[in-house]
Amino acid sequence: MKKYKIVLLSGDGIGPEISEVSKKVLKKLSKNHNFDIEIIEKLFGGIAYEKYGTPAPDETLDQCKKSDAVLLACVGDIKYDSLARELRPESGLLKLRSALNLFANIRPVKIRKSLLDASSLKKEIVEHVDLIVVRELIGGIYFGKPRGHITNTKIPKAFNTMVYDSNEIERITEIAIKIANQRNKKICSVDKSNVLEVSQLWRDTVLNITSKDKNISLSNMYVDNAAMQLVRDPGQFDVILTSNLFGDILSDLAAMLTGSIGMLPSASLNNNGPGVFEPVHGSAPDIAGKNIANPIAMLLSASMMLKIGLNEEEAAENLETAIDKVLSKGFRTADLADGSTEVLSCSEIGDKIINEI
Ligand code: NAD
Ligand code: IPM
Ligand code: MN
Repeated sequence: MKKYKIVLLSGDGIGPEISEVSKKVLKKLSKNHNFDIEIIEKLFGGIAYEKYGTPAPDETLDQCKKSDAVLLACVGDIKYDSLARELRPESGLLKLRSALNLFANIRPVKIRKSLLDASSLKKEIVEHVDLIVVRELIGGIYFGKPRGHITNTKIPKAFNTMVYDSNEIERITEIAIKIANQRNKKICSVDKSNVLEVSQLWRDTVLNITSKDKNISLSNMYVDNAAMQLVRDPGQFDVILTSNLFGDILSDLAAMLTGSIGMLPSASLNNNGPGVFEPVHGSAPDIAGKNIANPIAMLLSASMMLKIGLNEEEAAENLETAIDKVLSKGFRTADLADGSTEVLSCSEIGDKIINEI
């Protein structure tokens, strides 16, 4: 029997609620598909700060490095916002991504048929949406140096640096090419090269690398236009290739095409070594502890983990089908409710999904 060791980081806010569902789902899948999954739970984020004084303890990072894959819920809370930056839960997340060299963040945006009416946009506009945001994850303005505050000025001043070298752009472009080749072979690279030098290097490098693959059709778009086009005609996109900050913003925007940010999964990957599979959403402090969060983004992340991280394709498909069945029967969490559907709690929709597995 195949045996996997995964690390589960349930983090903060709604994290423990959606993780509980994910654990049960993984256990059922492992039984049905005949593999053994050891789920090692570790503290990470605000909760780790509370106990160890750091959001990403070495012990947690070491376990992650030794695992087959990491499943992460979400981190953060307003109560940590006044901490020194390196102590905040979000910094822990950046440290984890960087420690595992997870330069490629894959965010698939797929409309599930039964949720066509849940989108904030008209059905006709979203019905053909099936795109993937390929976001560079460990460079750009998130990590650029120098950064900080200037203290010897009259008025408060702070700054960050948006920087990429061509190697960083090349490796994420290679990932986008690989993904596009399994799909419609279209890459739209999103940048701000009309203003930023770093974006000009991005554009030139992407062109240089993609032109070596004759199957790929490349287009370029400025990020402001891309935001507009994602709302005007999102069906035009296949693979969106972009940098760290732009990818962060555009993927939350794209999430709403699917009906809820609670539906969007992601995979953070390296060319080798364990990946981190994480929903796109945050810790949703406004609904935490109420058992009303949508666990599906995390379940779809678990599905990506099964498929990409563990090669358990059938189990991943089983899970996705179970999710679709439950949604098509009209069961929804509150974020997707439209009055005609039955509103279930986080744990209830989890149980419905487990019953369909
Ligand atoms: P958020 O994604 O947590 O929440 C935005 C809105 O979406 C809220 O109204 C929330 O209730 C709702 N929402 C999010 N996930 C949901 C789900 N699964 N089901 C139902 N509704 C859901 O973003 P925010 O409010 O900007 O950030 C809150 C905290 O999360 C901050 O500390 C932020 O830094 C952190 N954050 C963490 C991650 C992560 O861990 N990967 C990602 C984004 C934000
Ligand atoms: C995400 C989040 C993170 C990011 C934050 C919490 C550091 O918003 O995963 O999209 O900006 O990458
Ligand atoms: Mn984000």
